[in-house]
Amino acid sequence: MTTEPTITDTTEPTTTEPTTGLSGTADAASSGRGVLVTGASRGIGRAVAAAFAARGDRVAVHWGSSRAEAEQVLAGLPGAGHVLVQADLADADQVGRMVDEAAAGLGRLDVLVNNAGVFLAHPPLETDYEQWQAAWSRTLAVNLLGAAHATFRAVPHLVAAGGGAVVNVSSRGAFRGEPNCPAYGASKAGMNAFAQSMALALAPQGISVTAVAPGFVQTEMARDVLDGPGGDAVRAQSPFGRVARPEEVATAVLWLASPEARFSSGTIVDVNGASYLRS
Ligand SMILES: NC(=O)c1ccc[n+]([C@@H]2O[C@H](COP(=O)([O-])OP(=O)(O)OC[C@H]3O[C@@H](n4cnc5c(N)ncnc54)[C@H](OP(=O)(O)O)[C@@H]3O)[C@@H](O)[C@H]2O)c1
Repeated sequence: MTTEPTITDTTEPTTTEPTTGLSGTADAASSGRGVLVTGASRGIGRAVAAAFAARGDRVAVHWGSSRAEAEQVLAGLPGAGHVLVQADLADADQVGRMVDEAAAGLGRLDVLVNNAGVFLAHPPLETDYEQWQAAWSRTLAVNLLGAAHATFRAVPHLVAAGGGAVVNVSSRGAFRGEPNCPAYGASKAGMNAFAQSMALALAPQGISVTAVAPGFVQTEMARDVLDGPGGDAVRAQSPFGRVARPEEVATAVLWLASPEARFSSGTIVDVNGASYLRS
């Protein structure tokens, strides 16, 4: 399905000339950037979109199947020049088209946030082989390949903007394990490794690639777990006695995407309330 980018406001987008960083490469503008957030129709992606818009950036709000929710997100963003883009992230052709539409609709692309994801249960001892294969295929297609293809297609636009940032929304599950969703844990470990490889590959272009690894976050994805009989035990995993709010993940994403964080490329930032510590 093809959806034309929808410009919410006819106001001319604010453009800022790229400034030259200490590395000698042109750095992304620190304000008025073009930002593509995948999976922005709800949850963490919605909070990330709102955080960028609140600081004056223009956001491409990507959605997969939740058009009405995405339109609401778009309508609620402060500022002007935001657009809607659609793609099933499991479809490489749709991903490529969507990234190009986002860059065209925003006029430039400085930041890509690979946030969209699925969390499909397939407990190894209670799942038949067919279900097992389906869960692995879908999870890797959306979470890992979707992010990889979006990044590949974003690179020419980031280079054209003089540099920028890619931020992957990974998960604590990459480190702590996901006994009921092993494909999810593997997809997030893959996102981390992908971010590190791409950090090396893209630094010469002034592009940082990083990841944020949240523990449980109060969103639709975690609702069944958090509202279920095990919810209190999950909240007790953190010494704060709660799970993260989407805005707390957005804060980390915002910093990782900033020019000031460019030299932190390759890092993975935990946002898990000290529920899982690693060094
Ligand atoms: N919630 C948590 O506890 C938690 C913890 C750690 C990491 N994370 C990660 O944080 C990210 C956001 O999660 P969330 O909690 O905000 O989840 P959510 O509320 O379920 O939102 C998921 C988003 O991903 C999009 N999406 C899913 N499948 C898609 C597909 N095939 N094509 C295009 N878009 C698709 C959805 O868009 P449509 O509905 O429009 O298709 C939606 O906007 C995910 O990568 C997740 O793994 C979440």
